[in-house]
Amino acid sequence: MTQHSSRQQRDILVTSALPYANGPIHLGHLLEYIQTDIWVRYQNMRGQNCYYVCADDAHGTAIMLRAEREGISSESLIARIRDEHQEDFGGFHIRFDNYYTTHSEENRQFSEYIYRQLQENDHIATRKITQAYDPEKEMFLADRFIKGTCPKCKTEDQYGDNCEACGATYTPAELINPRSAVSGATPIEKESEHYFFRLPEFADFLGKWTRSGTLQPQVANKLAEWLDAGLQEWDISRDAPYFGFEIPDAPGKYFYVWLDAPIGYLASFKNLCDREGIDFEHFWKADSTAEVYHFIGKDIINFHALFWPSMLHSAGFRTPTAVLAHGFVTVNGKKMSKSRGTFIMARTYLDHLNPEYLRYYFASKLTGGVDDMDLNLEDFAARVNSDLVGKVVNIASRSAGFITKRFDGQLGTVTEQDKLREFIDAGEEIADFYETREFGRAMRRIMELADIANQYVNDEQPWVIAKQEGQDANLQAICTNALNMFHLLMTYLAPVLPETAKASEAFLNAPLDWNNRSERLENHGINKFKPLMNRVDMAQIEKMLDASKEELPAATGAKPANSAAKEEKAKAPEPLAEEIDFDTFAKVDLRVAKIVKAERVDGADKLLQLTLDIGLGERNVFAGIKSAYEPEELTGRLTVMVANLKPRKMKFGMSEGMVLAAGPGGKDIHILSPDSGATPGMRIM
Ligand code: MSP
Ligand code: ZN
Repeated sequence: MTQHSSRQQRDILVTSALPYANGPIHLGHLLEYIQTDIWVRYQNMRGQNCYYVCADDAHGTAIMLRAEREGISSESLIARIRDEHQEDFGGFHIRFDNYYTTHSEENRQFSEYIYRQLQENDHIATRKITQAYDPEKEMFLADRFIKGTCPKCKTEDQYGDNCEACGATYTPAELINPRSAVSGATPIEKESEHYFFRLPEFADFLGKWTRSGTLQPQVANKLAEWLDAGLQEWDISRDAPYFGFEIPDAPGKYFYVWLDAPIGYLASFKNLCDREGIDFEHFWKADSTAEVYHFIGKDIINFHALFWPSMLHSAGFRTPTAVLAHGFVTVNGKKMSKSRGTFIMARTYLDHLNPEYLRYYFASKLTGGVDDMDLNLEDFAARVNSDLVGKVVNIASRSAGFITKRFDGQLGTVTEQDKLREFIDAGEEIADFYETREFGRAMRRIMELADIANQYVNDEQPWVIAKQEGQDANLQAICTNALNMFHLLMTYLAPVLPETAKASEAFLNAPLDWNNRSERLENHGINKFKPLMNRVDMAQIEKMLDASKEELPAATGAKPANSAAKEEKAKAPEPLAEEIDFDTFAKVDLRVAKIVKAERVDGADKLLQLTLDIGLGERNVFAGIKSAYEPEELTGRLTVMVANLKPRKMKFGMSEGMVLAAGPGGKDIHILSPDSGATPGMRIM
């Protein structure tokens, strides 16, 4: 019998925001997916019927343009990115019940259905608006696809909405010498018809909804300000060319990506329901008794707390039980930065560090609020080492050996009933912390218990007792007490540390079962203890930062869609070289080259010897890049070479060309590579 059998099982649907399919997952994103995953694992551990769905947010201009640049279809780009995202999430033990895509049939149907409902309810308006248009590329340009000179401080190359140099905000029309970031053409003004969602109609509904316990207090206050300021109609259409769903009966008009993105929550869940026979209606009908929670970052609150509930309400669906926002991740006290190496991709982290370190660190600092969170890497190492390795795992490693060696793996009986009772009772308090997303307080309470357990072992000194005659029963009891405490600690940590939890279950030969946690492990056989977790080493962190400096995502030309992806100001650029005419440039024969072989050169401390395939046969090139690359990592890579450079006799042999690389030197050298799809020998124009 579980302790909670009297309570009814809750039906819960949980989502995290759908990451854009135009870039890799980074540690900032992971705060959200880790927070959500911990909460969902906690609910399931307590016996709730809790589903967790997500998807890639696959539509929009940025994705379309990137696919074009890579010379592939938008569909194959989003399929590839979705695979990468799923691998990254899997690496951090994020356990979705379904990970779908917004470019799905289900999503098209829900989007059309909801749109038609809004139309029937007279919540859609149409009117003509004038926008910047790229006459060369024949497309309308959002502000972040326009660049020009700041009208205020005259800094060049600023985006269409604000200046990064002086902070001025303006409209793209005010830019001096505006250009399309897509083609470089000068934008013109052009009119077209747009579709609007009549949000002001929902002012009363939203006034109530946002004050009904659906939002965190700080968020509800912010929204009250917005509501007081008055709501605007929301532009939900975009003109072709656009990667998305065409609006019914409106040829050449597409749903704006933010219209069908949240509907992607419904679509992903529907896809799961169809696969597993779950009752979709039960969760989404207007008077549903199930619970629905959206975990999101604070930058996308307006979409989830204004547009989304209004759309659902108008279309006859239930509204979310709560929208739960979190703050933004900074690294070492500053915004994540590529040049400092703190813009860390999920993959780069996984190449160097155990994902459970990060899960624990985030958990230990998370609250139920929207404050930003600093990932201080020294604090990160110290906290993981002292809490997880030094406190929790240590309890098991100090007791398990005696049980294995002296008692054939058999536990005795618990003799510290009061202490154990305290551990069991603390489960209620820790449960409340998990439920209210006060994970930091949960972790602190668990570490207080770990301190008690360690103090107990220190006081009893089993390593001393073990050497004394006639103390066998005592020794077995001490270790049994300690391992029962460890069992409870790992039960409470299981939502945060799923892999260590699994390994602990194998070691203890017993499940970590929160609801039955008062059952002691007595006269019970355990398995041999294997180290459950290693210490974090600052050297691994340094390596990760170095690797992050190297693995920057390709620049897009357009301003990144979210501010976290925005790079901070770079160092002063080198002045431009003397101007040349086109004919001079055209004399340089640049080719895509494959590095067939890369070798160290005896006696040369700067050079690597490269064998390059340029389609027309192989070339031998000496390149001064040894300080930045290991030869092994270059083999098989594509790069760009000057193929018609006159061969040059060097100390170590003939060099038949030159490889293109950027950077000042030392470790900071970056050889160029073409986008995927290029083949050796292609001429660069
Ligand atoms: N595609 C939209 C969400 C659509 S939901 C119907 C989007 N995508 S995103 O990839 O930019 O962000 C996904 C989530 O990660 C968002 O909730 C965002 O707030 C969160 N984060 C992105 N960078 C972050 C940090 N640096 N720190 C914390 N969370 C961050 O927005
Ligand atoms: Zn300016």
